[in-house]
Amino acid sequence: MLNLVLFGPPGAGKGTQSEKLIQKYNLVHLSTGDILRSEITQGTELGLEAKKLMDQGILVPDQVVIGMISNKLDSNKDATGFIFDGFPRTVAQAEALDELLKSKSAAISGMVALVVDNEELEKRLLNRGKDSGRPDDANPEVIRKRIVEYNSKTAPVANYYKDQDKFTSINGIGTVDEIFGSICKVVDTF
Ligand code: AP5
Repeated sequence: MLNLVLFGPPGAGKGTQSEKLIQKYNLVHLSTGDILRSEITQGTELGLEAKKLMDQGILVPDQVVIGMISNKLDSNKDATGFIFDGFPRTVAQAEALDELLKSKSAAISGMVALVVDNEELEKRLLNRGKDSGRPDDANPEVIRKRIVEYNSKTAPVANYYKDQDKFTSINGIGTVDEIFGSICKVVDTF
């Protein structure tokens, strides 16, 4: 099984690259952000609670997203691998993911981190906010809060995978195809 964690700050290009990677490697794309937005669209209780936090750029509680990923792993039993996009976002989530995969005799193959500076991130997200309908993209203060959350709670997750020798960082600035090529070079070594 090929299980890739695609990592990086908000706007780094995780979703964009995931779309290309799932085609090339025949993987299932698991984006906790997308799953949460689908809950919001459906108006579920979970979605309503999550929306209050997401609109402020704050992470939703670990147990909520761990439960969502657990359900998705169970409902994709025949998958040949997964891309985890936007998850794990805390060390507790990374530990839980390892346990979930272990119970299926699987493991994370590696993490690829996209490196993009804050100025470029803000530019990309504000630009997308104009027509994406994502409330968390429309406001520069919320974008900055998402980056602060990333630096304080999510960035330490990289060390979790460095300690296991499963971490590679690549330059996330360039054309989508250039970056895709760099990611594939890493994934082909898994
Ligand atoms: P989530 O949906 O995961 O958003 P995010 O991490 O903030 O990431 P984005 O989707 O905004 O960016 P991306 O890296 O995927 O970049 P993209 O390809 O879209 O999370 C949203 C919220 O949900 C969180 O704030 C939190 O509240 C909650 N949440 C989600 N997961 C959670 C978890 N595990 N735990 C707790 N809470 C959680 O690209 C961005 C833009 O840049 C696009 O317009 C794109 O076209 C453009 N672009 C992409 N590549 C390039 C390039 N190479 N050059 C120029 N532009 C580019």
